Amino acid sequence: MMSRSGRARLKTLIAGNWKMNGLLKSRSELRRLASYLIDFPSSACDVVICPPATLLHSFRAEITGRRISLAAQDCHADEGGAHTGDISAAMVKDAGAKWVVLGHSERRVDHGETDGVVRAKAAAAAAQGLGLIICLGESKRERAANKTLRIVGRQLAGSIPRGIQPKKLVIAYEPLWAIGSGRTPTLDQIAQVHGFLRNKLTAAMGDQGAQVRLLYGGSVKPSNAAEILAVPHVNGALVGGASLKAGDFWQIIKACG
Ligand code: PGA
Repeated sequence: MMSRSGRARLKTLIAGNWKMNGLLKSRSELRRLASYLIDFPSSACDVVICPPATLLHSFRAEITGRRISLAAQDCHADEGGAHTGDISAAMVKDAGAKWVVLGHSERRVDHGETDGVVRAKAAAAAAQGLGLIICLGESKRERAANKTLRIVGRQLAGSIPRGIQPKKLVIAYEPLWAIGSGRTPTLDQIAQVHGFLRNKLTAAMGDQGAQVRLLYGGSVKPSNAAEILAVPHVNGALVGGASLKAGDFWQIIKACG
């Protein structure tokens, strides 16, 4: 699809990050979502669910022939070996994921993941052919100190390996203070950060930088999804809490129709 500027419009991507939520019985929620999507035009958006790793394999069976893709929430940078409790990019792919979320702030904070760690994981995932959803965002204190653009610029430059295909790269801007808080930046603040990220991407990747999808994440819900998705350079949303109930997530998906 072409926009008025003549550029190919990027297909919206709506991803649901289940975090550490969901058991085998949650398949019913996935089935419900799949049934809502049956008559929804596939051109409207891509839909990705990021369940915990324990559910990837069983969810794969549920989404076969459906319009939903799966993402893992993390992977290790190494191909295999002595890393108790970790999973490799090959394992994630083997279990049915097409994407992997990397550098989520909960991993950056809880597990001390630096930009360098995120970049190494991203390189390992890309080598397996997985698509990357790389998260970045500023803390409340950084926003108050007017450091938002500096922080997200540094995270962007430090977290993405060279040579990634733009169609397999998604950047999610998620201000830490908006995640799970019910608070969101103003639409102008979102536009400012997304415009900045777009400029950085085109400066680094040339025309290919225009093909990288930029998601907004942090307290996206049915009531604010449409206005957020209409902000320039917002090409989708990464949704946490509101993705756990198929009905709420469906309302958000419909906002891009
Ligand atoms: P939230 O989480 O929608 O619950 O704020 C978003 C995220 O952390 O990806």
